[in-house]
Amino acid sequence: MKQFQADEWKVIEDGLHLKENRLAESMMSLGNGHMGMRGNFEEDFSGDSLQGTYVAGVYYPDKTRVGWWKNGYPEYFAKVLNATNFIGIQVEINGQNLDLAKANVKDFKRELNMKHGYLLRSFTVTDEQNRQTQIEVIRFLSIDDKEIAVISYRVTPLNYVGEIKFTPYLDGDVRNEDANYDEKFWLEVSKAVTPFSGVLTLKTKKLDFLVTTAMKVAIDGDVIGQVEVYEKEKYVSNTITVKANANKPVTLFKYVAVTTNRDYQNEELEKIANLRVEVAYNQGFNSLFQAQQQAWESRWKESDIVIEGDIAAQQGIRFNIFQLYQTYDGEDPRLNIGPKGFTGEKYGGSTYWDTEAYCLPFYLSTSDPSIARNLLIYRYNHLEKAKENAAKLGLKGALYPMVTMNGEECHNEWEITFEEIHRNGAIAHAIYNYVNYTGDQSYLSEYGFEVLAEISRFWADRVNYQPQKDVYMILGVTGPNEYENNVNNNWYTNRIASWTLEYTLEVMDYLKANYPSRLKDLIEKLALQDQEIEKWKEIIAKMYYPVEENLGIFLQQDGYLDKVQLFVKDLPKEELPLNQHWSWDRILRSCFIKQADVLQGLYFLNDQYTLEQKKNNFDFYEPRTVHESSLSPCVHSILAAEIGYEDKAYELYLRTARLDLDNYNNDTDDGLHITSMAGSWLSIVHGFAGMRVRSGMITFKPFIPKAWEAYSFKILFRGHLLKVSVNKDEVIITQEQGQSFEVKVYDQMVTILENNSVKITTQA
Ligand code: BGC
Repeated sequence: MKQFQADEWKVIEDGLHLKENRLAESMMSLGNGHMGMRGNFEEDFSGDSLQGTYVAGVYYPDKTRVGWWKNGYPEYFAKVLNATNFIGIQVEINGQNLDLAKANVKDFKRELNMKHGYLLRSFTVTDEQNRQTQIEVIRFLSIDDKEIAVISYRVTPLNYVGEIKFTPYLDGDVRNEDANYDEKFWLEVSKAVTPFSGVLTLKTKKLDFLVTTAMKVAIDGDVIGQVEVYEKEKYVSNTITVKANANKPVTLFKYVAVTTNRDYQNEELEKIANLRVEVAYNQGFNSLFQAQQQAWESRWKESDIVIEGDIAAQQGIRFNIFQLYQTYDGEDPRLNIGPKGFTGEKYGGSTYWDTEAYCLPFYLSTSDPSIARNLLIYRYNHLEKAKENAAKLGLKGALYPMVTMNGEECHNEWEITFEEIHRNGAIAHAIYNYVNYTGDQSYLSEYGFEVLAEISRFWADRVNYQPQKDVYMILGVTGPNEYENNVNNNWYTNRIASWTLEYTLEVMDYLKANYPSRLKDLIEKLALQDQEIEKWKEIIAKMYYPVEENLGIFLQQDGYLDKVQLFVKDLPKEELPLNQHWSWDRILRSCFIKQADVLQGLYFLNDQYTLEQKKNNFDFYEPRTVHESSLSPCVHSILAAEIGYEDKAYELYLRTARLDLDNYNNDTDDGLHITSMAGSWLSIVHGFAGMRVRSGMITFKPFIPKAWEAYSFKILFRGHLLKVSVNKDEVIITQEQGQSFEVKVYDQMVTILENNSVKITTQA
């Protein structure tokens, strides 16, 4: 039986799965952009668990640990920090500490409510004297007031009169499981504790991030005696004993405020945290809870995708949208989107190419354009560091890091750090994507051109001329498919490099025509020489691309066809995922592809290739792809939809949207695949609905998967808010906001007036 039940608006774990607890903790993660946490229990738990409470932008530069040091490796790997555990509430029932790994637990339920943004847990425990106690816990991180977290912990004795002891605490004596040298990263700065409240300020051992956590506690029940206060290093607690009568619930409310010196002066942190928590406490649980539900409901109004007739698909997409918004809503332009968000330690919470390649298009269509622009400016702000990074490798221009917190490279595996340079292309392409979608050409003159020119410089230095063949090549790279390293002429890398040069020149022409004096200044600032431009043109003209003409495909890299050619469908099921069953050596020598590589290029540069080219390449590569990167199925799904492979598109959609819900890659216990969640949205909007933006016009080519009755979504496009609904008979596009304009549906131009709809017959 599956661990999580299908439901349109919830993720439900029915029954306690002690062995798979980490998986459930990942699934039940909460976040609000400012902070987040895994679905850990409030009370003590001696079973297997990955404790995780994270504060956005607060990280630790953990000294690099590698087997064999290579010149150019970074000194540290930035890590998102497991921060003060503020959910903790020890619970003693009639003198016995509650620990679900040891207790006799019945009717356990853990439920993530996506519609209203909270986590609910309920269960009954029975002790040796057959005393039964029912517990219900609600927890949420406010999206209205992002520094606030609230817990309601309700205990009901079912058949006895007894004593319940609550010990709500703040515990900063926490560690990261992935600490390179098993170090703890926090130092205590100050603490204070009084009955019903406590406050704790910690500081990171490096970089001086300060985080203050303040709690206030309220009790709905008969308190016996005095509240005991306790403190030790990095820890404060209250102990409150309550008399409990049969069938009379007692509830502890814990209000928490988390402030950091990213937002305030060090000296103010405690005062502000105390103030904030006081306000929350005065507002009370019910009112905060109601506000949370309303805030999520209004967020859903704009961002929901409704699928009729397929509950698994519906749950999948909502889970993805919910988790994306829990991670990043664009309010803080200093932040970015880590592949695991606030749901685990893996990938260090840092920025990867995932942001530009996958998340940006999602935010472009669902949020104010300033949010996508901020994501681009984030990289613009790192341009100097990217230049240093290229220089470290002995190259000109800018090489953006594979993994970064502040613009510096953190990754330390040579085949990725030095070789997975295609990431530069995604950053350039994101600029194109943004300008193409929003029409905001001003971005190019303000920021975009500098980034493009420095990336182009990098490519121009990284290629090498091969005189016998009179071509330019890019040797020694790792493409998006990380199951091959140090390959020559990865088609995707060569193509995206040459495309960057083409686009940079195009932008230069545009600036020459529209902003000549700004261009002059930029050329001066960049010290851009005419010879450089000439070289870019020559590289474009003479770039070498491996192809296999007989099959009509682009070749992933030189020599790919020398490998023994096998299909994924012929692999024994128990050997998948390969990365958990095969030796690395065997993986590297095999033909199996981790994630979209050539196909990534066909998706990015979609309008440059014919349907036949897309089909040939899809037919060749998809059967060899194991999709062991979460980023893979969505690109395949979108291309399958475009080619007309509707069943395949649907199958791959489910794989992307339910990747975590169904734990496809058997690795969700580490945390959720947040960045790939944007890919689920893309699979529906770019895939099933076939949305593209060409020359300023938005176009759709929708189809509806057989299993669905209907689906609908909303997008923002250049001041227009559109609702697109597709059922088996009709495509209905409604303009909810904005002035009359033209869109293209299939091959038909239609005009949509404000507050009006157009209907077109759905094509197969
Ligand atoms: C993928 C990369 C990706 C990273 C973070 C890896 O498994 O191969 O493409 O950037 O995960 O999501």
